[in-house]
Formats: sequence, structure tokens, C-alpha cells
Amino acid sequence: MCLLNRRILFNDGWEFAKSGLDAEDCSGLSFTPVDLPHDWLIYNTLDLYEDSIGWYRKIFHYAKGQEGDAEQLLLCFDGVYMDSSVYVNGRLIGEWKYGYSSFEHEMTEALKDGTNEILVKVVHQAPNSRWYSGAGIYRNVWLKVRGPSHIVTDGIYVSTKQLGDDGLVEIETELSLAEDAELSHTLLLHGEAVASAAERLSPQQDGAALSRLQLRVSNPLLWSPDQPQLYELVTELKLNGRSTPVEQVSTRVGFRSVVMDPEQGLVLNGRKLKLNGVCEHHDLGALGAAFNVQAMRRRIGILRAMGVNAIRTAHNMPARELMDLADEMGMLIVSEAFDMWERPKTRYDYARFFPEWMAKDVRSWVRRDRNHPSLIMWSIGNEIYDTHADERGQEVTRMLMAEVLKHDPKQNGRVTIGSNYMPWDNAQQCADIVKVAGYNYAEKYYREHHAAHPDWIIYGSETGSVVQSRGVYHFPFEQPILADDDEQCSALGNSTTSWGAKSTEACIIAERDTPFSLGQFVWTGFDYIGEPTPYHTKNSYFGQIDTATFPKDSYYIYQAAWTDYRKRPMVHIFPYWDWNEGQIIDVRVATNAPKVELKLNGRSLGVFEPEHKQGTKLVGWWKVPYEPGELEAVAMDEDGRVIATDVQRSFGDAKRIRLTPDKRQLKADGRDLIFLEISMDDEEGRHVLSIMSKDGPKNWIFPLEEPVSVGDAVRVHLRAVVDHADLRFYFSLDGEFWQNVGPRLDASILSDERAHEVGEFAFTGAMVGICCQDLSGEGRAADFDYFDYIANAQTGVDEDE
Ligand code: GAL
Repeated sequence: MCLLNRRILFNDGWEFAKSGLDAEDCSGLSFTPVDLPHDWLIYNTLDLYEDSIGWYRKIFHYAKGQEGDAEQLLLCFDGVYMDSSVYVNGRLIGEWKYGYSSFEHEMTEALKDGTNEILVKVVHQAPNSRWYSGAGIYRNVWLKVRGPSHIVTDGIYVSTKQLGDDGLVEIETELSLAEDAELSHTLLLHGEAVASAAERLSPQQDGAALSRLQLRVSNPLLWSPDQPQLYELVTELKLNGRSTPVEQVSTRVGFRSVVMDPEQGLVLNGRKLKLNGVCEHHDLGALGAAFNVQAMRRRIGILRAMGVNAIRTAHNMPARELMDLADEMGMLIVSEAFDMWERPKTRYDYARFFPEWMAKDVRSWVRRDRNHPSLIMWSIGNEIYDTHADERGQEVTRMLMAEVLKHDPKQNGRVTIGSNYMPWDNAQQCADIVKVAGYNYAEKYYREHHAAHPDWIIYGSETGSVVQSRGVYHFPFEQPILADDDEQCSALGNSTTSWGAKSTEACIIAERDTPFSLGQFVWTGFDYIGEPTPYHTKNSYFGQIDTATFPKDSYYIYQAAWTDYRKRPMVHIFPYWDWNEGQIIDVRVATNAPKVELKLNGRSLGVFEPEHKQGTKLVGWWKVPYEPGELEAVAMDEDGRVIATDVQRSFGDAKRIRLTPDKRQLKADGRDLIFLEISMDDEEGRHVLSIMSKDGPKNWIFPLEEPVSVGDAVRVHLRAVVDHADLRFYFSLDGEFWQNVGPRLDASILSDERAHEVGEFAFTGAMVGICCQDLSGEGRAADFDYFDYIANAQTGVDEDE
């Protein structure tokens, strides 16, 4: 069905050029083709915060459609970082300041029949953020075409209620009408209609119209993180008795009841549930800020396997696709909007624009995401200076709260703030306004504040901030070591920050023993670029998973606490097992099972029973003198039946590279990704998990010398070989690395030169995002048969070395 009112993905055919901040226009710049979504800063990893202006240009042909002069055209941007202006045929059609909220500009008046030029100017002036923001049109662009009668953008507002055994869906729809119309809603489950309603509408004087309709479903399937049951609401607009609709909008609906109670905590669909959450920044590691739905789906899958059921989108509104994935995959979302209000945290941040723009940003944020069943809270700010400094913070809290409620009056999400100032009065006053009080690193105040403010709903908006580098261990475990010469943090669990939790276990226990708290959001799920505390490297060490998407050991400590051994038994030993003879090694074992036995070369080293329900010993700990061989952990249920095992084996020097793709077929749509794990094996095929050989650091993966040639239909973005928490070793993403035109396409993994100079680079595995582009414009599956070639051409560490 070809609808008159439609939204079309508009990512094709853009060109890009970059200039300094002083450029008045883009004349004289040379533009090159660019794929959207795009982050121009990720290509130069030596200057990820470069002051620069990005210019995006698109030439397109326009011929007036069915509606002739009455036709309206809009450009819709899901996210442009930041401070953008859009010109059509030289005429300014709109500006937008915040880099995370979605916006649209109407361009009808500026368009002409025939060839048209769109120019988007994006100003990136640093510092403007406490983390890596990326820059550019880093989310999708859409073209919206519509007639004068249409559903207003994000004008459908859905909320659900339980009425006895029935589920009630209340739907409000804002319309703009030039003639009489009929609006209908049909609710579908697995494609079958289960309820419908329709209404005839006439325009008011200003053309506006509002429809209020309800649908009832008996015994609806409920949405929850365990069973994210989704219905589809199809809304159609028909004009003047015509049978063909002019517009059709699909909205996902989930029936769920969310009760936040000061005593009970979170009650979802009548059952108490703790939020086992993580905070997530928006970058995708080496893909930068450019959004990719496959990469995000993969990330959410990794989090789910850890036992995570909630994400706090720190500290800004997420990509719209993240919300869709959360609905589908079962993640509760605390959607956060701001890291600053009127008082800045960095010189060029959004505080410059906040007073004038805040209402527009809140409107865009809440209207876009208010219908998602995954959405449970609107966080109006993180660690906001204004809430601490003086009473103005309370005024702004009220203003923001009122703006949110204007667009979500039924409170599909509750308003909250994440605060690190909770011991102080001003922040408490703000908490008292919103009532849902998020505490950052302040579990020790929960009980006292709960007693003093029995109407507050308390939760850990940010906890943890324990730091670790995957696969790096600083002994002994009982000695805290935050920073060391290798610029890595110990994954044993003995690298902690002064403000964060004393350990991963402490974080789990504090929450477990506070029944009234809703739960917690650990800082962070994945590592992110920026904030490389405690060093001056490139990315964070806070994650339970690194930027290459490999879990660190702490991931398994959470998994042991947050998953059920009766459904998915697990056990994990760390560190790896390859040390000097006789060296005393702290061996730790995390399991969700009732008990676990550790064995070295078949000899028992003892049994440990984790104190998951009460007590403080969550992780087994042994001091073991190293001897080569095999360390095995055997997890058992209460009857002594073996339900999971894990093994660490001593290994020799690396002899081969092992390539493990997560799939072997790419959809030729320019967005699909294959994640290719590159790891090393010794001569006997055992995984090599350390760079250290007997003769010093040696086992790392070398870059390919020759470009790899691939077929015609595939473009390879070997974008992302990043390991560890330290992105000093980002592979270069520009020049040779990024060759994306021509029928024969070359790709090579070129490492940053400094990777050769610095010896401590532990490259035990890596992820490469490979992205395929359909050059013919049609969806075609491309067989990915050149892995072998890569593997054969590059056998890793030279035997003579
Ligand atoms: C918090 C802050 C986060 C991050 C974190 C690091 O205070 O909200 O954005 O900076 O500290 O521990």
C-alpha cells in the first residue's frame, strides 16, 4: 500500500567535509561520500575531541506529489551531535542544539521542483562532555512526506491499565486535519486482531483535532523482562469517507503494571522485582557514536546473559532503536536526559543552551519514547550541580518535572533524578519534589533516609565504579592497587576508586540487604570511550565488559548473583593459568550454584559454598602455588550433582590466530555486521590468554601486511580492533584503513604505530566489525568466505620471533 503520509529512511547519498571552527561556509571544501549514521571523530583516534565543523550535503530530486502545493516535507533527525543548522537550497530551515534529542524541520517552503540541496552544519567545540560524544549525524535521518491532514509527529499517546482480568489500552491521538476524517486503531497479537475502535473527527478552527479511544482485551499477555510480550497497535487515518488510509502508524504496546512503593520496592505485574541494572553511555566502542542496531542488539544480549534486566541511559536520551530493542528483548529502561542544567560541567556543554532549549528537548524526549513498555522512569538529570548549589535547583526540578508530566500525564514513567549529593539538604529538597530518589554511590544513606522520608522511593541510580582491565591481574588480591605502571587495572577485584564500591560483591550485598530499594544500576555495563580513570588513556575501565564486547571477570560475579542456577548454571575461574612455577596465585571462582570444588591437576583444593542469600562471601578464593596443568572448577547443586564446570589450562607461545565470526552471512544492506573474534592458540590448540611468553611480552596479534581483497558486493569496514580498556591501541580508522569505493575492495587491519612500540599491549582477542554494503542497491546476501584467506595469510606470531 502506498500511503500519502509516509516516513522514508533518508540515509543515502550524503557527502561529508570537515573544516575548522572559523569556516564561515563550506565553499572550497572537498566533499566525499559518507555513510550515515556517521561519527567523524572516531576516525582520528589521536584526536577524539577535535574542534571542528562537519558539513553534510545531499543533493536530491523532488517532484511534487499527489497533494501538490499542500504537500509538506520534513527532515527528521534521530540525533546530531551537536549544535546543528540545516539549510535547504541555501535557506536556513532550522537549528537544534542538544546532541541527543530527536528533531525535525519542515522544508516545504525552501524546496523547488527538480534538484535540491540539503546542507547540515554541525559544530563540535570541545570540551562539551565528560565522556566521548562523537560528532556528526550519528543516528538515522528520515524524510517525512505528508498532506495537510495527518497524525502529528509523536502524537499518539498510549497507556495500559489492568481492570480485573481485562487490559485496557487508552489512546490519545493528536491530529492536524483539513477535512473530516476517520481514525481507527487495531490491536494485533502475532498478526491477529484482538481489539479495535474507530472515531469520526472534524477539524477545529486551527485544524487541530484530538481523538481519545479505548480498547479492551481480556486476559492480555503481560510484558516483563522475562517474557516481553508485545502487541502491535495499528493506527489508520482515512479522509472524507475514502476507503484507503492516508497514513498508517504502528506502535508497540505492552501490558504491564509497574508499582514503585517506598516499602516494597518495585512490583512488576504484581511480583516484586529488583532492578539488576547497568548504566550505559551511547558509544559502541570502536564503532564510535555512529549507531548500529546489530551492535546494540548484541550488546543487550550480552547484558541479558549477565542477568541484567534494566539499563539507565547515562546521561542522555538513547537512540530510538535502543528503546525498540529493550521492548523486544526485555530490558527496563530509565531514560535519562541531562548531565547538566544551567550550571555547566565543561566549557562548551549544553548548559549554554539549557534555559532556551530545555522545554523543546523534554518535549521531543518524552513524546518520542513515552509508549514503550520498557520505559519505567524519566531521569531529568545526573549529578546536577544546580541541585546542590542553591535553591534554584528546586525551581528547575519543578520546571522539568512539569514539562515531563505535560507530555506523559499518565506517568508511563516516573520522574527521577540521579544524585551524588544526597547527604546535603538542597539535593534532598529536589528528591522530595520527584519522590523517586536515585542515589549515586550512597547506599550507606538508604536506611537513614528511608526512615526520615517514608514516602521516598529509593534506588541506586549509580553504583560500583570498580575498575578493571580484562585479563590483567595484579597480585596479591588482598592488596588494593588502583594504578600501576602498565596503565591497567587489576581484574582480580582489587582496583577500586575512592568514591565507588569497595568491591563488586559489596555492591551486590548492599542492594540485596536493602529490600525497600528498587535495585541498582552499576557503573557501567560496557566500557566506553572517555573517562579513563585512573589514567590518561582513551577509555574507561569501569565496565563489566570491555569495548571489544568481551566480559571481564566481574561480569561473572554479577552473573552468579543475578541468575538462577536451576535455569542456567554457571561457574567461572579467574585468572588464567600460566604463571611462574611456585608463584602464589590468588584463584577466584564465581558460581550461581550452591557449591563449587576447585581441582588442580585432578587434586581437590577444597569446596566453597557461596553465600548468595545472606553472608558476605560470594566468590571462592584460594591461594594456589602455580604448577603447570589444568585448574578445574566443578559446580554442584545441593545434592552434589555436577551442573557446570570451567577449566583454565597452562599454554605455550602463540602460534596461530583463531578467527571466530559470530555468523557467516551478511545481509547486504549496509548495516549488518559480523563480529569476528581474533584470538591466539598455541601449538597444541590451547587458547593463549596472556601476552607474556617465557622471553617477555610477545604474544600479540600483528596487523595484516597486505590488504585483504574481498568480493564486489561487500565493503569491509575493519573498523574495530580494540582490546582492553586502553584505546591507545585503536587501529587507525582513516586513510588506508578505510577504503570504501571501487569494484575491488581492499581492507587492511593497520594498527596504530604506537602499538608496536609499547610492549604491554595484551591482544588476546579482538572484535572486528565488518559491515557490508549493497552496491547494486538491492538486498543481497553475501557469503563471507574469505575468513580462511585472512587466517591463512596471517598466521599470527612468526615462529622465528
Ligand atoms: C559518576 C558520574 C558518571 C561517571 C562516574 C565514574 O559520579 O555520574 O558519569 O563519571 O561517576 O565513576
